[in-house]
Parts: sequence; C-alpha cells; structure tokens
Amino acid sequence: MKGIVLAGGSGSRLHPATLAVNKQLVPVYDKPMIYYPVSVLMQAGIREILIISTPDYLDNYLAVFGDGAGFGLKMSYAVQPRPEGLAQAFIIGRDFIGDDDVALVLGDNIFFGAGLNDMLARARSRQSGATIFAYAVDDPERYGVVTLDAAGRPLHIVEKPSRPQSRWAVTGLYVYDNRVVDIAAGIKPSARGELEITDVNEVYLRRGELHVECMSRGYTWLDMGTHDSLLEAGEFVRTIQKRQGQLVAGLEEIAFQQGFITLAQLQERGIALDKTDYGRKLLAIAAEHA
Ligand code: TTP
Repeated sequence: MKGIVLAGGSGSRLHPATLAVNKQLVPVYDKPMIYYPVSVLMQAGIREILIISTPDYLDNYLAVFGDGAGFGLKMSYAVQPRPEGLAQAFIIGRDFIGDDDVALVLGDNIFFGAGLNDMLARARSRQSGATIFAYAVDDPERYGVVTLDAAGRPLHIVEKPSRPQSRWAVTGLYVYDNRVVDIAAGIKPSARGELEITDVNEVYLRRGELHVECMSRGYTWLDMGTHDSLLEAGEFVRTIQKRQGQLVAGLEEIAFQQGFITLAQLQERGIALDKTDYGRKLLAIAAEHA
C-alpha cells in the first residue's frame, strides 16, 4: 500500500501566521505539523509516501524529509498548483499509486490512541473497497458527516450539513483500493469548485463497499486549521510527552519499531538532536535496545 499526505491548501484561517509559510510546516509543540500525519501512515506499515503541497513550499518538505532514508521511507513529492480539492490527490498521485492500494491523510490532522495500529491493520487487510474513520464530535456541521444504521453500516454521507443527522465526523484519513484512481478522475467539481472526497466516498457507498471504523473516545483526533485548535494540539502533545515520557509522532522511534531503520540509525538521529527532549528520547529508546 502507498501513502499520500495532502499538505497544500491556503491556510487562510491561520493568517497572518501562514502568510509566508505553508500550514503543515508550522511547529506543533516540538515538530513540524506534517510529522503527525506521516506518523499515522508509518504506523500502518506504509513506507512509500507522496507529499503533495503547493509549488512554493515543496522544497521545504524536501529539507525536512529528503529522500526519506533517514526515516526508513521512500519519499516522493508532487505539486498541487491550486487547492482544488482533496480528491485531486489521486489524480496528481496517479503514477505514484500505480497498481497499489492507497491511504490518504490530511496534513493538518493528528490521530493518537492505543489501538490505532489495529484499526489501520483492519483497513489494510480488506481486499477491496474503502475505509473511512469516523469520530464523534460536538460540531459535526464543520465536517463531512456519516450516518450509520444499527449495525454500523453507512447510510449516507453529507458534506458540512446545516442540520447534521449524526455526530460522526469523517476524519482526514482514508484507505482505498486501486479503483479510487479512476473514481476520482470521473467526479466533477462541486459548487465550491473542489473535487470532493465525499463524492468519492459516495461512489463506494452506493456500491456497498464503504466501511466505517468508528473511533471510540479512547482516541484523540484533532485538526489544526485554526489558531485555537493549533494551540490546543500543541498543548495536547506537550502534556502527553511530559506526563508519559513518550513521543507523539516520534518518526524515528516508529521507524525503528517497524523495522524500517537500524539501531545505529536511531542512535545517529538521537545524537544529531541531542539538545532536545526529542533527541534524548530517541537515545533512551536506543539504549533500551542496545
Ligand atoms: P482545509 O483546512 O479545508 O483548507 P486549508 O488548509 O486551505 O485552510 P483554510 O481553510 O484555513 O484556508 O484543508 C484541509 C487539509 O487538506 C489541509 O491539510 C490542507 C489540505 N488541502 C490540500 O492540500 N489541497 C486542497 O485542495 C484542499 C482543499 C486541502
């Protein structure tokens, strides 16, 4: 399975902070925002990742990840000239995806919680169809909203409904079989001029091939699109890291656990960052396994 991180957008709700920098490069406590969605793909065991961003900022992502080898990844990069919708990721990423299945994660989403790996493994193991991840929120009208029947099967999805019929927001993580490439190529822009991911999901829904994984309250899902949510996310990461002494989205740690990098690589990265708690934590993990 391949992975795509969609890290373009205009970030207008974070202006003026994002006038001169792409949103997903903004620090969230101790690391760039994009670390968090990348960590989700890595936890799903995905090593080939495409980062899609705006033309002005792709070089910055290259500076963060390079070819990906330091994280045990194979990183590719592509441009989305204008924010014309989430589903455009599959058109831009067509060659990258090739004949494989694909997971898409939005660059400004954080997912955290025990059991995330199992949920991702379940989605990966499905032979065909699509899996979306729903999370109960207080303000569903801000999101795509999915309504479920008593057995947990999806009945319908509506993008930003004024009167939501459920509290289940569709989060920014999606797993698809290879047909998504053709489905995305076939949809038309919405009234707001975007290729909507909801339209892609509806095609799977109509075919009876849309699976919904409901995230229980043991999980945390945050998006970081506004000044308040950005600060809250930073505080969340700081609290967990200080209290539990564990990294949230410690990419080298995940890479080591997954067998993507060696102990020596983990140590090397820890030494390079040893002025920070992040680096010291990597060194402590390396010491435990030495
Ligand atoms: P949004 O938060 O909906 O949009 P935005 O990032 O442009 O911000 P604002 O509304 O403040 O102007 O986007 C959600 C995520 O998807 C975010 O990580 C950016 C990304 N995105 C793209 O990369 N390309 C797109 O065409 C769209 C619509 C979003």
